[in-house]
Amino acid sequence: MGRTLVIIKPDAVERHLIGEIIKRFETAGFIVDGIKMLRLRPEDARRFYAVHEGKPFLNELCEYMSSGPIVPMIIKSDGETFARVRKFIGATDPAKAEPGTIRRDLAINMTKNSVHASDSSENAEIEIKFFFG
Ligand code: CMP
Repeated sequence: MGRTLVIIKPDAVERHLIGEIIKRFETAGFIVDGIKMLRLRPEDARRFYAVHEGKPFLNELCEYMSSGPIVPMIIKSDGETFARVRKFIGATDPAKAEPGTIRRDLAINMTKNSVHASDSSENAEIEIKFFFG
């Protein structure tokens, strides 16, 4: 089985959507293999999003990701889990996400897009280590 990291972001936690999001993953056959709730300090968010260093949205992103509690989860499935999960959650911009995806149905905008998911199996392992050691 492959695994990836998913984060339920502050906008979804604040709107009481933790259960809804986990239910969607479990109903689709994904397995939750690790979960915790925590609040990042801005410098931790910056470390987590180091690949986006230099991007115009980085400051807003880090401020937002440290604005409230988040729920990182290890998600497992058969096959290429990172790719399956990214398709399942929908495009980064909720307005462009496929109907029926988490981001299309629940997200607010490009920053407050409710969930994060690793973009490769290599990054999945790095990101899992970041939160779960
Ligand atoms: P995420 O999957 O967490 O990875 C990086 C995040 O940056 C992304 O989701 C968005 O929430 C945020 N972001 C904000 N603006 C942009 C943008 N223009 N392009 C990509 N990501 C963006």
